[in-house]
This record gives sequence, C-alpha cells and structure tokens, in this order.
Amino acid sequence: MKPKPLYIKTLRVDPPLVLAPMSGLSHTVLRQLVAEYGGCGLFYSEMLSARALPLESPESSTWLRRSAHERPIIYQLLVSSGEELPGAIEKVDACGADGLDLNMGCTTALITKRGGGIALMKDLKRAQAIVTVSRQATQLPLTAKIRLGWTLNWHALRDFCLMLQESGVDAISVHPRLKQDRLKRPARWEYIGRIKGLLDIPVIGNGDVDSPEAALRMFNQTGCDAVMIGRAAVRRPWLFSQITGWLSPSHHNESPPEPPEAYNRFVSLLNASIDPECALPLLKRFTFYFAQNYAFGHTLWRLVHNAKSTTEALAHANDFFQTQPAKPG
Ligand SMILES: Cc1cc2nc3c(=O)[nH]c(=O)nc-3n(C[C@H](O)[C@H](O)[C@H](O)COP(=O)(O)O)c2cc1C
Repeated sequence: MKPKPLYIKTLRVDPPLVLAPMSGLSHTVLRQLVAEYGGCGLFYSEMLSARALPLESPESSTWLRRSAHERPIIYQLLVSSGEELPGAIEKVDACGADGLDLNMGCTTALITKRGGGIALMKDLKRAQAIVTVSRQATQLPLTAKIRLGWTLNWHALRDFCLMLQESGVDAISVHPRLKQDRLKRPARWEYIGRIKGLLDIPVIGNGDVDSPEAALRMFNQTGCDAVMIGRAAVRRPWLFSQITGWLSPSHHNESPPEPPEAYNRFVSLLNASIDPECALPLLKRFTFYFAQNYAFGHTLWRLVHNAKSTTEALAHANDFFQTQPAKPG
C-alpha cells in the first residue's frame, strides 16, 4: 500500500511521513541525517519560543540553522499569547519556513505554568485567539500539534479540534496521550481515528511508531493522512527510508545501514553545523536514544555522557562499536 501524498493547504508532503518536533533533537543535524537517508516528506523544527525568536539570528542560532536539504520544513512555535506572534512569524518567514506550527501539547511544567503548550488545551478562548492572530499574520500553511488534553473528555477534545479547524488551522498533528501520561502509557491511537472522522482538514497521527509495520498499522487503523515519528527516528534516522521501501508496490526490503556509520555521520554533520560549545550536549542527547540500538546501550550512553569533547565521545563510541553488535532492525 503506497499512501497518498498529504496536502497541507498548498504544501505537498510526499511521502506522508513526518519527522516530529523534539526539543534538543530535531535540529539541523538530525534533519540533515534523516534527509540523507531519504523517505521523510516533512520536517518539523523543535519548539521555538515565540518570545525569544525575534532576537535569534538564523546564521548563528543553533535552533534556526538549517541546510537546503531539510525541506519542506515547518517551524514550531511555543506561544502563550497572540502578542508574541507577529515578531516570531516574521522571523520564521525570513528563515524560509514552509509552514508554521503551534505547540499545544508540551507538558513541561515550566512551560504550562506560563500558559504555553498543553495549557492552551484548557483555555479554548486563548487558544482560539492565538490561532486567529496566526492566521491573520501569515499565508503559510498553519498546523497545530495537540495531545488529548488534561483528562479524557471527548466532548472537550472535539470542541477544541473543531475550534482549531474553524479558526483556520490547515492540519492537526495528534499525539494521543493525556498530559499526565507524558510519554509513558501506550498512545491511544483510537483517538487519532475519532479526530480524523470529525474533521475535514488533514490529521497527522503520532505516537509509538517504531517500524514499517507500525507505520502501516497506524495508517490502516486510524485513517490518518500522514504518520509522524519522533523517538524512533532518533534511534534509527534511516527509518523513513525503510518505511517507504516497505510501503512501495514492489515492497523492496533493503537491509538497514550499519548504526556506527550513521553515528559517525551524525558527528561529522554536528561538527560542520554547530558551534563546538553547543555540540557536545546535542551529541549526548542524540546518544541517549541512539544507544537503544544496542543490547548494552547504557555503556555507550555512559561513555559519551562522561566525555569532555565530541572527539573524545566519538573515540569512545567507535571503541564500543568494535565490540558490540547492533540489535537487528
Ligand atoms: C526529547 C523529546 C522532546 C520533545 N520535544 C517536543 C517539542 O519540542 N514539541 C512537540 O510538539 N513535541 C515534542 N515532543 C513530543 C514528540 O513530538 C512526539 O509527540 C512524542 O515523542 C511521541 O511520538 P514518538 O512515539 O514517535 O516519539 C518531544 C518528545 C521527546 C521524546
């Protein structure tokens, strides 16, 4: 089964496979690596503070840096009031954004206390005002990424989704967990299907997709228009290309690349794209997920975590790779 391209307003997403926004992870380096393997139809940036964005420079900011290969790209804004939006939208426009996303799902306490992320799902009027200002400020495709809310209440969730559609959002990404679930309990895919049945705009399904089989299951079970992948794409940046191979009519099943090759390429892209003082923390964060390719991944993680430079971290990682086979897949 080859899924149809997704259209978000005029933006064509083909294949309809999407890299999720993940703070500290969905930066230019991961996006470049994913783009090199292929198969990803749309990249999201990590969440960017709408308040801070006007002060950032696309040339020097770790968060705004981007190569020509990471396209199409939607920048995600973390926003708590409409006043923060015009300056932030102007900045992402200047960065060549293909679209704009509003974060309505982040559960971090510091953010919800300031009224951002999932706090917006509790305040329909404020969320509506933010969408309305965004819609008036840009012609770019506009998306919103939501969770299921603070408690399981279908009526409230339905009203929220309908409000987003009526206020001008062009597509919704659904990460079907409650606030309190964080990333723990299994994603409730049935809600992706219910929201898809409710709305006319496209719905992007997200949560726990970690293989070609799981991607196909999400398409089939929920009827979603695209599948968004987060953590598994950090662990296996080649996953999108595996999925497209698997879903193609000829169903070609190429063997996946060797993880050490991907790790070494990540570090070389990191060194080329990111200032040295920011590079090591990003490598540590990436390694936390990448290490899950190995039965003794915690050893890899500890070696990199204790390193004082990316050079030292890579040397330790390559020593580890010489003795440890990767898990299959
Ligand atoms: C480390 C980390 C950072 C995240 N940061 C963001 C973010 O900036 N914005 C956002 O909307 N979601 C964020 N998420 C949630 C992911 O986009 C995604 O919804 C979640 O990981 C479930 O998808 P998965 O099972 O494919 O990982 C983050 C998740 C993780 C693990």
